[in-house]
Amino acid sequence: MKCKAHYYNLMQNHSLNFESSESFALESDKQDALRHFREKFYIPKQANGEDVLYFTGNSLGLQPKTVRAFIEQELKDWETLGVEGHFHAKNPWMPYHEFLTEKMANVVGAKPSETVVMNSLTVNLHLLMVSFYRPHGKRNKIVIEKNAFPSDQYAVQSQIRFHQRQNAKRKTQNEDWLIELAPREGENYLRTQDIEKILEENGDEIALVLLGGVNYYTGQAFDMRRITEIGHKTGAVVGFDLAHAAGNLFLQLHDWNVDFAAWCSYKYLNSGPGGIAGVFVHERHSENFELPRFAGWWGHDKKTRFLMGDEFVPIKGAEGWQLSNPPIFQLAALRASLDIFEEAGMKKLREKSVKLTNYLEFLLSEIQADRIEIITPNNPNERGCQLSIRVKNADKSLFKSITTRGVIADWREPDVIRVAPVPLYNSFADVWKFAEILKDCLIKK
Ligand SMILES: Cc1ncc(COP(=O)(O)O)c(C=O)c1O
Repeated sequence: MKCKAHYYNLMQNHSLNFESSESFALESDKQDALRHFREKFYIPKQANGEDVLYFTGNSLGLQPKTVRAFIEQELKDWETLGVEGHFHAKNPWMPYHEFLTEKMANVVGAKPSETVVMNSLTVNLHLLMVSFYRPHGKRNKIVIEKNAFPSDQYAVQSQIRFHQRQNAKRKTQNEDWLIELAPREGENYLRTQDIEKILEENGDEIALVLLGGVNYYTGQAFDMRRITEIGHKTGAVVGFDLAHAAGNLFLQLHDWNVDFAAWCSYKYLNSGPGGIAGVFVHERHSENFELPRFAGWWGHDKKTRFLMGDEFVPIKGAEGWQLSNPPIFQLAALRASLDIFEEAGMKKLREKSVKLTNYLEFLLSEIQADRIEIITPNNPNERGCQLSIRVKNADKSLFKSITTRGVIADWREPDVIRVAPVPLYNSFADVWKFAEILKDCLIKK
């Protein structure tokens, strides 16, 4: 654990004076202007009828109470209108995805024309790499985190293999096209200066930089603005997987000049299991119809889509990357949640999030236990709401004990408990209770 002085600095930086008493937590909740948002969500119950302590909004967000009505509206229109619902439903299905565009764009700091809701995350990463990973000559490498989420690793490796096979036919050499960013020996997360160095050193060989906005394991948030700037300077395209950043960080994708991004919506964006995902394509690419892309009829010019011609004419902007007509029930669920985000505002959510997570960090620092260590950066600018707690000797019994006591966190192999206090529905009291339970379980061991 970090020394106390570190936490005092952190507290001063955020002008907060944390205390470890329960009354402090209760008072903090009273003063929290966003506290009523918790009422908008179903909190799962324990067997004893009490709310669970839910800290896995970084994995699956809770259900907004309004989701049911949003989906029922579409069920009703389908029941009474059949196919006519495409035009005559209360919320016509034909343009339904457009109802979400602006709200989603606001969540990630994009222009509406740069954003679309479609497919699932890994599918979208592939579709975007078709357009934005264009290896040529010696500029053929992709840069990712060494401990990127496995699906990203598989996607990137398979894209590389796909291009290498094509090149093999043209008899070029197939050297390793992957650069993995690893923390320094003995350190838990990457230093921005090291990322910059690798980008600069390998500049003329990098075709694509594809990092997570927030690393799923360590909870480290990357300096996306800086990485984009350096990546562009070296001639690379820069994209981000925002699975753990969308709805968590205050993002400014347009201003940061990011080329593209993709994210799922079932984590912080509460769209439900397997919910429909989001995509960002910077407007400077919106009319670049020379970019290769896989096409489908939903990406075709809306004015002529139903003329059923055989020549694909892409819509300008992110919508031009769509393939299929989208799943309306999924859109309806996400729409319910995005309305809540619109009401709360990402800036305010992020402000509360920083306080909540700093508070969690403070309480953990008060626990004198050498069995646990926080591996998430301690600078609030370098993390979202998640703290990753490494358990010595990969002893999973601690995780099992807190689970038995009503905590829903998650265990990520080999040795980490991830805990994410989410500002929309977690309270300071939740965080305080969690710390008490963790302390208790550590003592009893
Ligand atoms: C960082 C990251 N990338 C990719 C995925 C895979 O998402 P999907 O199954 O929606 O494609 C996840 C899922 O948790 C993730 O956390």
